[in-house]
Amino acid sequence: MNDKELLQKYNVPGPRYTSYPTVPFWKNIDLKPSQWVKVIEKQKTEAKSLGIYIHLPFCESLCTFCGCHKRITKNHQVETPYIDSVLKEWDLYQPYLNQAIGIKELHLGGGTPTFFAPEALIRLTKGIFGQQQIDPNACELSFEAHPGSTSCEHLLALYEVGYRRVSFGIQDYDPQVQKAIHRVQSFDLVKRTHLQARALGFSINHDLVYGLPFQNLSGFTDTIEKTIALLPERIALYGYAHVPWVKGTGQRGYNEANLPQDDQKRALYEIAYEKLLAAGYLAIGMDHFALPTDALALAFKNKSLHRNFMGYTHRQTDLMLGLGMSSISDSWTAFAQNDKSVESYQAQIAKGALAVFRGHLLNEEDLLIRRHILDLMCHFETVWKPALYETGFYNQIISKLEGLQQDELITINSAGLEILPKGYAFVRNVCMAFDLDLQRHAPDKPLFSATI
Ligand SMILES: C[S@@+](CC[C@H](N)C(=O)[O-])C[C@H]1O[C@@H](n2cnc3c(N)ncnc32)[C@H](O)[C@@H]1O
Ligand code: SF4
Repeated sequence: MNDKELLQKYNVPGPRYTSYPTVPFWKNIDLKPSQWVKVIEKQKTEAKSLGIYIHLPFCESLCTFCGCHKRITKNHQVETPYIDSVLKEWDLYQPYLNQAIGIKELHLGGGTPTFFAPEALIRLTKGIFGQQQIDPNACELSFEAHPGSTSCEHLLALYEVGYRRVSFGIQDYDPQVQKAIHRVQSFDLVKRTHLQARALGFSINHDLVYGLPFQNLSGFTDTIEKTIALLPERIALYGYAHVPWVKGTGQRGYNEANLPQDDQKRALYEIAYEKLLAAGYLAIGMDHFALPTDALALAFKNKSLHRNFMGYTHRQTDLMLGLGMSSISDSWTAFAQNDKSVESYQAQIAKGALAVFRGHLLNEEDLLIRRHILDLMCHFETVWKPALYETGFYNQIISKLEGLQQDELITINSAGLEILPKGYAFVRNVCMAFDLDLQRHAPDKPLFSATI
């Protein structure tokens, strides 16, 4: 089968597996805060590490391709009450947490964290750490930043308080693409902000997206070359997720005929892949690249890479607590998500209650499949777990893998499964063979973007 035929065969809607079970298959769709705190209380004595994700949803202007949970506003009066709510939410969690364990990871995501003034972000960070000393060697502090709203003051203040990683949203430099996605930002602006961050000592990630409207090979080659010229330590090369049916994405301003299709979209990825590898980057898991000295590259090499709702990480924490509207927490045995509206999140917190509105308590089967899917997403291989045979799932999964094996995308033996380099592009399809939920309840409406 040639590459084009493989793409046609495997380019089907499928999850990105930032979690298993994937959100549409969560069973505790009305998980109560009281159920969630019971989970973390139970874990209190064993949990050795805590990570925190804070969702800061505001952006000044809508990028029409964006699939994130965001709120568009130019009114900066929203900053103080929102930070107050997050700090109050953090207070509400205190009785259930082991005070003896330190915070190992703090990530500010969004929306646009740099929508907030530097002082607001410092108040937030200091409020989270409280009496704990902020030691960048013991805790990794990182934030997402829109180059257009990131001032030198932001970078200085955040570095001073302990942040060492910044992720810039770049997407694409082609003017026609930028216009279509309503996100005009020049290379000069990115370069200036990038060099300021570099001079301060930040480790830098650039987010790029392939598959955007009007993208073509020459424009995207230019985007990749400009990215390489700045040499960020990490590059996330996301496939554009076209999910216009998801409420609040605001995906509009172009139509499907403007999107590069199957093999054109894949060609964009391939050109980026070739150029990034030639420039010295290593391909890490799905859609990620890193310089060989970067912590993600080292974790990939020594098979300690982990994947959570924010993407790949070289640290796994026993508890990942999500604060702010729409954020998701993960205790390994349970997921919990906060209310997805800014107003109801804040109203709930103001009443002195946590804002968890849905979640999933993982059973033995979920935990088993979760482990296999994580291995595949992080290491491109997995070892058969004994419980797979005991439950009889092994035969079911093997039957779903037959086609991938015949197409020489994977090898299977008595010990486990390995995805071959030719199959890396199809890692989501391999995971789908393990996804028992998806097999039991084939969705009757669109839930996921295309896998390629
Ligand atoms: C929260 S934003 C990054 C920070 C900041 N808001 C910005 O745009 O610069 C997170 C990243 O998600 C990616 N993203 C958003 N919507 C996407 C979509 N529909 N498909 C693929 N990637 C997407 C973009 O690369 C974006 O930089
Ligand atoms: S891409 Fe970033 S700035 Fe644009 S709408 Fe999405 S979160 Fe906001």
